[in-house]
Formats: sequence, structure tokens, C-alpha cells
Amino acid sequence: MIIAIDGPAASGKGTLARKLAARFGLPHLDTGLLYRATARALLDADQPLDNAAAAVAAARGLALTEFEEQRLRGREMGEAASVVAAIPAVRETLVEAQRRFARRIGGAVLDGRDIGTVICPEADAKIFVTASPQMRAQRRALELARSGEDVSFNEVLADILRRDERDSSRAVAPLRAAPDAALLDTTALDIAGAFTAALALVEAARARL
Ligand code: DC
Repeated sequence: MIIAIDGPAASGKGTLARKLAARFGLPHLDTGLLYRATARALLDADQPLDNAAAAVAAARGLALTEFEEQRLRGREMGEAASVVAAIPAVRETLVEAQRRFARRIGGAVLDGRDIGTVICPEADAKIFVTASPQMRAQRRALELARSGEDVSFNEVLADILRRDERDSSRAVAPLRAAPDAALLDTTALDIAGAFTAALALVEAARARL
């Protein structure tokens, strides 16, 4: 069973993907980490984020086991990842590894922006997770405060709107719900409520298999 979870920044898709993977005993790939790690490698090499050749080389050289999560999770890395993710050749470089992961025996859970549309159009269950920008900003600001980054709500909201706009308007694999994805709006839901709803959607998809 392949489960595809897509949605904008801070919608809760990562948490839901992790919990669904645990529930079904499936491996989970947070595909945003691929773009974050590509951006990190460019920054570490003092290369501009729009250097397509360097970005492709960085994407090719990714060793998933070497991910240093703390250096990929910060606020500015989401923005940098969104910039390199708009380079078509970078996306092309990363497609195969994601598809291989999805086609493991037994299945997998992948979360990102284009899983249901481009990476796994054949996924058995597709969920597009949304929430209002205000709610996403509130959640992200709380998360950042907990990890010691003191950022105002308005700054986080501006980050989120800018990233939504870039991720949705790029030419290749923009952030979009697949026509056959179920929409899950988590604005009024806590984590437990969102997980219950997501689980029901996956169970319904499973029943159709
Ligand atoms: O999910 P995230 O916040 O870690 O993703 C960081 C950026 O990476 C996001 O703003 C756009 C890009 N991304 C993408 O283009 N496609 C994906 N499947 C996952 C992430």
C-alpha cells in the first residue's frame, strides 16, 4: 500500500504521515528533507541557490543516511529548499529515488508537495492536507519557540504565504491536490482529531483495494 500525503508548509502533513506509517508498519519518507538537504549542501559550499548545475550535483550527491536533521529543520532552510525545489533539473534528479522508496515491498508513506500528482500518481491512498495560513503560522510559531527560535507570528505568517506562493506557482510539479486526492482540512482539528480523520480516509482507500 502506497500512501501519498501532500500539502502546504505546516499543514500537519508530516505528523500525519509519521503516525500513519507507524500505524501500518510502513517506512516513511519526508521528501521535503531531500530539497532541504540539497539547499544545505549549496549553502555549505557557498553556492547561490539558483545555480542549477551546482544544485543538480548537490541533489545527486545526497546520502540520506548523512542527514543532520537539526541543520535542515530551521526556518531559513524551508525557504532555501523551496527555492531549489523550483529548479526543474533538481526535481528530475530526485524523482527516481522517491519512486524507488515508494515501490518497496509492502508499501510506504511519502509526504511532500507532488507525491500524489507526480511521484506516485498510482498511490492507493492520497490525502491533501490543508489548514488556514493563520492556523499554520500559529502552529509553526509555537514549534519554533519550543526549539528556541524567537520569531513573531507575523514573520512566520509572511514566510508561509511566500512559500505557498512559490511552491504553487512554479512550472514543474507545483503544490496541488491530485484530482483523486481526499482533502483534509485540519484548521479546526488537533493532532488526534486529524489522525482519526486521516486514518478513516486510508481505511476507506484500503477497502477499495
Ligand atoms: O515539507 P517541507 O517544508 O520540509 O518542504 C520544504 C520545501 O521543499 C517546500 O517549501 C517545497 C519543497 N518540496 C517540494 O517542492 N516537493 C516536495 N515533495 C517536498 C518539498
